Amino acid sequence: MKLIKVSSQEELGASAAEIFAGAIKSKPDLVIGLATGSSPLPLYEELARMNKAGAVDFAKVRSVNLDEYAGLAPDHDQSYRYFMDKNLFDHINIDKANTHVPDGLAKDPVSECARYDALIDGLGGIGLQLLGIGPNGHVGFNEPSDVFSNHTQYEKLTDSTIAANARFFETLDDVPKYAFTMGIRHIMLAKKIVLVAGPEKKDILEKAMNGSITPQVPASVLQLHPDTTIIAIS
Ligand code: GLP
Repeated sequence: MKLIKVSSQEELGASAAEIFAGAIKSKPDLVIGLATGSSPLPLYEELARMNKAGAVDFAKVRSVNLDEYAGLAPDHDQSYRYFMDKNLFDHINIDKANTHVPDGLAKDPVSECARYDALIDGLGGIGLQLLGIGPNGHVGFNEPSDVFSNHTQYEKLTDSTIAANARFFETLDDVPKYAFTMGIRHIMLAKKIVLVAGPEKKDILEKAMNGSITPQVPASVLQLHPDTTIIAIS
C-alpha cells in the first residue's frame, strides 16, 4: 500500500484527481468504481473543474458505484444515485447511460445482487476503484463480519453505520436499515484502488493498514491488493 499524506481537502482532491485523470487519459473507456460520502467530494469537484477546462474527457468512461440504500428511489435526496448526479455526473460530460448504481427499489434483493455482479463482469471488471472508509472500517457498505463478501450483498447496516450516516437524514429512524453493496471480491479485482480519508479516520486507517487482515475490519483486506494508494489528510 502506498500512503500519500496531504494537509487539506483541496490537496486530497488534486492528488486523487491527478490519478483519475491520468488513468482516463491512458484508457478513455476506463471503468471507474465510484464512492459516496463526504471524503470523495473534493475529488469530484476537481474532476468537474478539469473536465470543464478540457483536461479530462469522460465521453467514453463507464462507472459503477459501490453501493445504494435499499428503499430509496433514485430521486430521493439521500439516495446515492442522486448524490452522484448532483456531485459529479451533472457536471461532467459522462453519458448517464454509462453510469451504474445498484437499484435501491429492486423488489427482489437476491436478483438485484446477481444483476449487479453480472453487470460489473460484463464491463470487464473495474480499472480504477475509489473508496472511502467508514468509521468501523467498512468499504462501500461491507460491514464488519465473519467473512469477506464474495458477491454484491444486500447488507443489514450496523447501528454504528446508521448512527454515522444519520447526519444526512432528518431523524435516525429515516436512515435505511439495509443497503446494496458491491462485494469485496469485485473491489479486490479492481486493477488499481484509491482510498481517500479525512483526518477523523486516522485510527481506523491505522488498523486497516497495519493491523490484522480480518473481515472485522473490512478495509484491512486492501493490504493484499497489489496496487492500492491511500490519500489521507493528516
Ligand atoms: C458511507 C458509504 C461509504 C463511505 C462512508 C464514509 O457509509 N457507504 O462508501 O466510505 O460513508 O463516508 P465519509 O467519507 O462521509 O466519512
